[in-house]
Amino acid sequence: MTLDGYGAFPDYPGSDIEDPEPNDFWKEMWINMYTKADTIIFGRRSYEGHAQVHSVANRKSTDPEYLYDYSRFLEKCKLIVLSNTLKKAEWGNTEIMTGDLGEILKKIRSVPGKEIIIEGGPALVHDVIKTGFADEYRIYVMPVIYGRGPHYWGAMAKQETLKLVSVKTLPFGELILHYKCVR
Ligand SMILES: NC(=O)c1ccc[n+]([C@@H]2O[C@H](COP(=O)([O-])OP(=O)(O)OC[C@H]3O[C@@H](n4cnc5c(N)ncnc54)[C@H](OP(=O)(O)O)[C@@H]3O)[C@@H](O)[C@H]2O)c1
Repeated sequence: MTLDGYGAFPDYPGSDIEDPEPNDFWKEMWINMYTKADTIIFGRRSYEGHAQVHSVANRKSTDPEYLYDYSRFLEKCKLIVLSNTLKKAEWGNTEIMTGDLGEILKKIRSVPGKEIIIEGGPALVHDVIKTGFADEYRIYVMPVIYGRGPHYWGAMAKQETLKLVSVKTLPFGELILHYKCVR
């Protein structure tokens, strides 16, 4: 998100640079999770964006190896896309689910397995906070005050208290905030 909590990706110095090696964003958000997680939940818009850019089939030959690894990880996972409109999902091992998010998360968590990543755009994050199901948050903060697009934070019915696990600073001023939820 931007510093003021918006979800779209703005341009800023460094935002267009693709590192030949994975930086801390990739390590913290994804590479560290490759052995820990086996399920990823997306809202329909985020899913469609990811399928377009991050399927193995759509990778460019010039992409660095770590991006291929990321695509291979996504395609190894069980992917859940939340949608009322999608009829068919042809990317990877995808299941389309719909309805009350609390019930959906209860069902997914009842299946034995590894950790579940919710790859949330703002709408989904709102809904997840409301369910009280999150154990951890990893927030990537871009050094931009933006004022446009979908917003991550809105009125919440109750407080969510967090314990800071780590803060990482990236070369172009981005932060990666890792919190655990305090219950
Ligand atoms: N992780 C990310 O992907 C990520 C990260 C940062 C920023 N962003 C930005 O966030 C934006 C996308 O986020 P968003 O919040 O607009 O969309 P989103 O969460 O990706 O997708 C919203 C859609 O998910 C479906 N949905 C959500 N909950 C559902 C439920 N319980 N049952 C059925 N369907 C459900 C609906 O799809 P239908 O319309 O099909 O019913 C809804 O329109 C983009 O601008 C992107 O750049 C994304």
